Amino acid sequence: MVNPSKKIKNLPPYLFGAIDILKARAFSKKLDVIDLGMGNPDLPTPEPIIERLIDTVKHHPRTHRYPQAKGMPKFRRAISEWYKRRFSVKLNPENEVVALIGSKEGISNFMHAFLDPGDIVLVPSPCYPVHYNSVILAGGTPYLMPLLEENKYLPVLEDIPEKVAKKSKIMILNYPNNPTTAVIEDLNFLKEVIKFARKYNIIVLYDNAYSEITYDGYIAPSFLQIEGAKDVGVEFHSFSKTFNMAGWRVGWACGNSEILSYLAKYKSYVDYGVPTFIQLAGVKALELEKEVKETVREYERRIDIFIGKLKKVNWQIKKPKATMYLWTKIPRPYSGMPSLEFSELLIETTGIAVAPGSGFGNYGEGYIRIAMVTHYKRFHDAYLRLRKFLQKNKKGMSNE
Ligand SMILES: Cc1ncc(COP(=O)(O)O)c(C=O)c1O
Repeated sequence: MVNPSKKIKNLPPYLFGAIDILKARAFSKKLDVIDLGMGNPDLPTPEPIIERLIDTVKHHPRTHRYPQAKGMPKFRRAISEWYKRRFSVKLNPENEVVALIGSKEGISNFMHAFLDPGDIVLVPSPCYPVHYNSVILAGGTPYLMPLLEENKYLPVLEDIPEKVAKKSKIMILNYPNNPTTAVIEDLNFLKEVIKFARKYNIIVLYDNAYSEITYDGYIAPSFLQIEGAKDVGVEFHSFSKTFNMAGWRVGWACGNSEILSYLAKYKSYVDYGVPTFIQLAGVKALELEKEVKETVREYERRIDIFIGKLKKVNWQIKKPKATMYLWTKIPRPYSGMPSLEFSELLIETTGIAVAPGSGFGNYGEGYIRIAMVTHYKRFHDAYLRLRKFLQKNKKGMSNE
């Protein structure tokens, strides 16, 4: 009999695995699926990045060899220059930057590098599922910090019991936030986080994967730009969303050199790092600005179109300041329905796939996340289908 570890058995089913099953069922019924489930960018990687990759692979065979695990110096320098330009944060490329095979990998390995059985990690709920699951996989114990709409989806630090705080090793924060789309509007919150982390000797793991996908003049901060942040924290970043490079698997962690040294040490035992040609393509990516603006403009166009259309059926969704998601309560008359059940009904009836809020944690129940990852013209189709779906119920609807 095959008997996997308790850790594996204790994991909830991976959210996007559940969505994939729903999609497969819809495909088998020959439904024309509009996939707004996973945050998987549909736009192509910008041309200059592709050209750099092709040129490098073709003309520089040394890049075919094992890479430098923590990232080649040129890559780490490019990150450090980008941080200076973008956030006015100084990073020593030698020991304050580590290349990652995507930030998902980095976050997961980070937990292994730091957690012993029973160590507590303060995890937001709802959250990007890896923030929770990686703690379980590493043998740690997540303590949920509810992100509630009435608190602007920020955790309330005073609500964390003293005895939990004392036993906590890591606090995870992620703004712009997946799935709630919340952003940091007041840097005082981050200052309070630093004080809290200092008081209880907690590492802050700040996930900034969506820092560049912002709208209406909002500019996302880096945690590291706050005084004292580097004493307590590290920031995780991804090329996936900013440069439409989700399939390339490249990201980085930066910040406190001592903390990062343990991540790098752990990783040196489990992987060989990001392929050198991908790192060099990443260096090219960090030079681009126009292409990033185009990506953001395209997401914004989709968001504006879709939100505008849904208003017509009285489904009011607040425009997000960042990310390519909409986070919305399950509309009336379905409001009491569990989000997984609603998502199932939605895809079965309309062919539209969304992510159920409960897949992001207990406090996501009652909501769904809609990813803006398909051609803008498809949102008209999606709207027509939703209108029909919602008009079946005579009471009309609203998510207020
Ligand atoms: C908050 C957050 N962090 C990290 C990631 C993963 O990024 P990567 O592709 O770099 O592993 C995602 C992907 O959706 C995300 O939403």
